[in-house]
Amino acid sequence: MMEKKNIDWANLGFGYVPTDKRFVANYKDGAWDDGCLTSDATVQISECAGVLQYAQTCFEGMKAYTTEDGRIVTFRPDLNAERMESSCKRLEMPVFPKDRFVDAIVETVAANGAYVPPYGSGATLYIRPFMFGSDAVIGVKPASEYQFRIFTTPVGPYFKGGVKPLTIRVCDYDRAAPHGTGHIKAGLNYAMSLYAIMDAHRQGFDENMYLDAATRTKVEETGGANFLFVTKDNKVVTPKSNSILPSITRRSLLVVAKDYLGLEVEEREVYLDEVKDFAECGLCGTAAVISPVGKIVDHGREICLPSGMTEMGPTTKKLYDTLTGIQMGRLEAPEGWIKVIK
Ligand code: PLP
Ligand code: COI
Repeated sequence: MMEKKNIDWANLGFGYVPTDKRFVANYKDGAWDDGCLTSDATVQISECAGVLQYAQTCFEGMKAYTTEDGRIVTFRPDLNAERMESSCKRLEMPVFPKDRFVDAIVETVAANGAYVPPYGSGATLYIRPFMFGSDAVIGVKPASEYQFRIFTTPVGPYFKGGVKPLTIRVCDYDRAAPHGTGHIKAGLNYAMSLYAIMDAHRQGFDENMYLDAATRTKVEETGGANFLFVTKDNKVVTPKSNSILPSITRRSLLVVAKDYLGLEVEEREVYLDEVKDFAECGLCGTAAVISPVGKIVDHGREICLPSGMTEMGPTTKKLYDTLTGIQMGRLEAPEGWIKVIK
């Protein structure tokens, strides 16, 4: 077994801990260079770089896990590559080819193997691929040079308190316009959510429930995760919308619900009005995994989920155990879901 770093894995939060190596590739004169690993955790770019002036940047988020039998694996990196491709196209950025993306993930995680938290520690290695316009633009137009990087950082739970159910509020700010950029992982979507999340925290809420901007009647997502609901007759329901991020965790959970747990699943529009009738609610994403929601507050009106404020609902728990079981190698994964690093 590989020697692991001396880190207090069980007490890690969701923060940045630099690791030994990161991947860097540069795009210039219409082509990507070969890329390489570097120990340099800093970036030096023009003061007029496209990313600094016009926020031309997008990113991805995924995790590496140590399995029960001591292998290091990642979960569906091909889907992160595909989603980054759609982000790049929407932002007029060059695509980093899918096979090269997956190879670079493997190379970067392998080089930081000592930082992949041990099996059972409760922590994982978060992987952050990102790209930005690196040369000068002053008129509003795309940059002509770009940098693609991947760094890793060991993380614990995204929400403090681990599996304690969250209290969220219906948010009066919009996250994404109907034909905007909500469906891609653009940095700009997160910049504009900062005021809303700080405001939510100041009012005592853990997260925001964003509604559809056009009618403000339908549930979209939070600032960093998709919603998952369970009906009283045990059906799994997730909101369908063109302006939410197509979460890889959510798409995987729908397969898990159907094929592993034999549950009925529905991906459809979900109205705020019907949320009071659900039995369970969770936030799903790479960082959130599945974080249970206990209470949703709509301008003073409290919607208390029957699953309560002390633990995950029973179906949410089954989904959580099955998904993490697949990721940590306790359960057999569907074909192609697990990419073994070493
Ligand atoms: N929604 C938003 C806005 C996100 O930032 C994320 C995180 O990546 C997700 C949903 C969850 O997506 P995934 O499951 O692919 O991590
Ligand atoms: C992720 O889940 O990977 C994300 O990027 C969400 C982010 C808010 C940390």
